[in-house]
Amino acid sequence: MRVGILTGGGDCPGLNAVIRAAVLAGTQRHSFEFVGFLDGWRGVLDADVVPLDEARVRPLLGIGGTVLGSSRTNPMKDGLEAGVAAVRASLERLGVDAILAIGGEDTLGVATALHEAGVPVVGAPKTIDNDLSATDATFGFDTAVQTAVEACDRLASTGASHHRAMLVEVMGRHAGWIALHTGMAAGAHVTLLPEEPVDLDAVAETVRTVLARGDAPLIVLSEGAPVLGEHAVKDAPTDAFGHVQLGGAGELLDRELQARVPGLSTRLTVLGHLVRGGSPSAADRVLATRFGLSAITALAEGDLGTMAALRGTDVVQVPLGDATKVLRTVPAQRIAESAGLSW
Ligand code: F6P
Repeated sequence: MRVGILTGGGDCPGLNAVIRAAVLAGTQRHSFEFVGFLDGWRGVLDADVVPLDEARVRPLLGIGGTVLGSSRTNPMKDGLEAGVAAVRASLERLGVDAILAIGGEDTLGVATALHEAGVPVVGAPKTIDNDLSATDATFGFDTAVQTAVEACDRLASTGASHHRAMLVEVMGRHAGWIALHTGMAAGAHVTLLPEEPVDLDAVAETVRTVLARGDAPLIVLSEGAPVLGEHAVKDAPTDAFGHVQLGGAGELLDRELQARVPGLSTRLTVLGHLVRGGSPSAADRVLATRFGLSAITALAEGDLGTMAALRGTDVVQVPLGDATKVLRTVPAQRIAESAGLSW
């Protein structure tokens, strides 16, 4: 079998580890051959491929990003029929029998549509946002949180020296997982998520209380936190999947807090893409490797239209469509767990 691997959507730490595990397992256990499509679905549409063999992938385990490149190209943007036909034509031309699509909701949404149209495809879920249903976790998330926590620890120490409120904005789009875990692990005094309304007066009160006891307030907010009642968006075009670009939540919060707490000194750090880069954590290397192995087993066993998923501590294959049905946001009980306490 000749398998084409692609990585689509926003990159994340661990993508290369999936590629490595898939190629090593596929080659050694099943005599599969591999090519890599460059820049996600763009490489499929343009038949732009590179060879992938054991020597090429062996060094990749700890390397961040994706050696295949990524894009937000949507092959279905001119309609399902045209998209499927274009993908099929390209696979035929390249002699590729099946696709391993490594991606988030958009990439796996395309993979689902292709599967439903009869194209042989399996998937592996990635995203720092950790927002895919059907899997308990996505690789990339653990690394992103670790990076954000390290940044918060550093910001907290300089904040304490200057008796300042330190505001830290993290990615996550419409799911607050990165903010929730970063806030908890960094000991933030306030954590603001997209899933909850923001009570600016309550945040200001916490800031006053923390300052009054001689500490420097640390506030972690998600880029999707509805500071003024809705998500702050950048004045930028939507991508090929119709997503707006979030941005500006931290600035709004900064302004609102200064208006409510006279004399407050604040500093805002928008971590942005910093948490998406770099070498994957050990946990992400393990999860990514297990996902790659599971996807290859699925291909070998003809378990098509499925995606590797973590269920408890087991990696299983689940229907691709399940991953993209609903966005896995932070549930109310996870918010309630740590709410109302003075940290
Ligand atoms: O989905 C991953 C993610 O990093 C989100 O957290 C963020 O909102 C978005 O991608 C940023 O996308 P881009 O890389 O296109 O700026």
